[in-house]
Amino acid sequence: MKHPRVMKPDLLTEIRRQFRLDWAGHHGFPHWARVYRHGLYVGRAVGADLRVVELFAFLHDSQRQNEYTDPEHGHRAADYACWLHARHRFELDRSALALLVAAC
Ligand SMILES: [Fe+2]
Repeated sequence: MKHPRVMKPDLLTEIRRQFRLDWAGHHGFPHWARVYRHGLYVGRAVGADLRVVELFAFLHDSQRQNEYTDPEHGHRAADYACWLHARHRFELDRSALALLVAAC
């Protein structure tokens, strides 16, 4: 089943540009891709908003400052999601953005 894609190549480029850690590291892009794959599987089963699943997968660890203990990384990811949204880097209605923020 298809779902509307919210991640565009230029958005992923922007996320990568500011990512502080190893792109291929423990919490880098391969992890995000796995979160996306498993998130779609679970999200379809429970009727989740798959746009939120997709954005969460590629944003939730994007603000990590290290691979170990970084308890504020989720809050920073939520702030970053709002920053990107305010600059029209992805389209999402207010209620779905609130879900994304809560998930981060
Ligand atoms: Fe993660």
